[in-house]
Amino acid sequence: MIRSFVVAVDGPAASGKGTVATWLGRELGLPVLDTGLLYRAVGILTDRAGDSPDDATAATAVAGQLSADQLDDPGLRTRAAGELASRVAVHAGVRAALLDFQRAFAGQPGGAVLDGRDIGTVICPEAPAKLYVTATAEVRAERRWKQLKGQGETVAYGDVLADIHRRDARDGGRDTAPMKAAADAVLLDTTEMTIEHATDAARRIVEAARALWETSK
Ligand code: DC
Repeated sequence: MIRSFVVAVDGPAASGKGTVATWLGRELGLPVLDTGLLYRAVGILTDRAGDSPDDATAATAVAGQLSADQLDDPGLRTRAAGELASRVAVHAGVRAALLDFQRAFAGQPGGAVLDGRDIGTVICPEAPAKLYVTATAEVRAERRWKQLKGQGETVAYGDVLADIHRRDARDGGRDTAPMKAAADAVLLDTTEMTIEHATDAARRIVEAARALWETSK
């Protein structure tokens, strides 16, 4: 029985899971970890060291040395970093090296919110609240395209859509911890939802999970 109230928010790229996780963290007064940043940092640092993200040994060595202060780099939010992250994330060694950091974050007294791809399945399979946030590839591409534009990146919508399809295939097709909804996760399809609608639905899902968790303690 997990003692702290952990909220696992998984889902594909640009599904709205980051927005939902941040909002839930604020609402519940819990710390939030965007675990994608860990993989983005490993991808960027491997690349900066002159190694290929497909080199499992090099990427695993970087993951083993990663520290929390390396997660603030604005370069981690770029399109290139997302692609590098998805490529280093296929390596079992990288995933193993990042496990303890994520579990320690989840184990904080009082609980935590973590968003990623395998929080409900691998990192915190006993999390009392699990959401799987999704949306169509086209809607996710549009959101990501707008976000990148807002960050000053010039990129065509069609290229972002191709990125999304490629990342979905890689993240869902890898051997280790493939992206998928936990059997006990509640699906939240944000395709037709505004941010307010999605966060409100997430709040209701988490409130129900919390009530169940309180009675089973
Ligand atoms: O959520 P994001 O777009 O920042 O994630 C970037 C990549 O990192 C994603 O394509 C796959 C990988 N990732 C992962 O494999 N597991 C996680 N828990 C989070 C991200």
